Amino acid sequence: KQRELILAFESSCDETSVAVIENGHRILSNIIATQIKSHQRFGGVVPEVASRHHVEQVLNCTKLAMAEAEVDYEDLTAVAVTYGPGLVGSLLIGICAAKAISFAHHLPLIPVNHLAGHIYAAQLITPLSYPFMALVVSGGHTELVLVNEPNEYQLLGETRDDAAGEAYDKIGRVLGITYPAGKEVDALAHQGQDTFNFPRAMLDEDNLDFSFSGLKSAFINTVHHADQLGETLDRKDLAASFQASVSDVLVGKTMRALAEHPVKQLVVAGGVAANQGLREKLTATLAIEQPAIELIIPPLRLCGDNAAMIGAAASVQLATKAPFADLSLNAVPSLDL
Ligand code: KG4
Ligand code: ZN
Repeated sequence: KQRELILAFESSCDETSVAVIENGHRILSNIIATQIKSHQRFGGVVPEVASRHHVEQVLNCTKLAMAEAEVDYEDLTAVAVTYGPGLVGSLLIGICAAKAISFAHHLPLIPVNHLAGHIYAAQLITPLSYPFMALVVSGGHTELVLVNEPNEYQLLGETRDDAAGEAYDKIGRVLGITYPAGKEVDALAHQGQDTFNFPRAMLDEDNLDFSFSGLKSAFINTVHHADQLGETLDRKDLAASFQASVSDVLVGKTMRALAEHPVKQLVVAGGVAANQGLREKLTATLAIEQPAIELIIPPLRLCGDNAAMIGAAASVQLATKAPFADLSLNAVPSLDL
């Protein structure tokens, strides 16, 4: 088989990333320029600031990605780019770069959904067998997706309000942790106990949807109430209680999905897939309830936003003969799977 080389771009949020992927699974390069420091003092991503950073970074990231992969533009099979969901101004920078290279080097342009990218990060780790289940948990998403065939997605459930990572970031703020707070809340949680017993929203409902805003409010109200009484609550126990609630719901709903839809593999993707509490609970519960299902959680670098995952998803689109984009490709900020 011919060597397939895809140059991929990701700029949907606050990471500028460019990667070269060989044959859909081998990472030749995966350059990630993060802007987190520029957004921290605002407590979240500022879209205008993000776009400017992408403009400044994208060419340099492209040069680095091509150099590290040791390939020439003539060697490439296609160019891939995230066209949604995400911040419109940020998405447009990756799209412009990908279009320019596609035009200059006569390469097909593959439009990739950011969520498909998160899901296919798993393909960079191990071969996938269909159908498989995917739990996508990030700062912007909480979704259970059944992948029936290559590049064929069935959305089984999603959050009705906040995403899991968003809830982490918001309660982290109350604990005095800078954005993004997930990693530090996770670390705190490991030193505490679930003493507050926060609500497990929708866990017993007969559906595969999520809700995290009630948990977030319960957390914030508990802290404010204690403040008013002049009491100080244990931050470790607060974090542990929050994390126990989030992981109970994520794992509970995932097990429900797996009971309804038989699969051989479960993929966990997105920034919150880095969560230690979630990983532990999922591993333990699967071992008891669904021991035959293989759990695939990409390493941290591939859980967060990166272009390698976009290249992997693009390769699947190439193999399934999904339509290419042309130079009229536009950003779609609220693109569905
Ligand atoms: O996928 P990602 O890098 O960007 C989005 O597409 O949103 O996810 C970032 C999110 C942030 O909300 C961050 O707080 C959360 O992932 N996160 C974590 C952990 N590491 C990152 N949440 C919980 N536990 C972690 N260890
Ligand atoms: Zn993401």
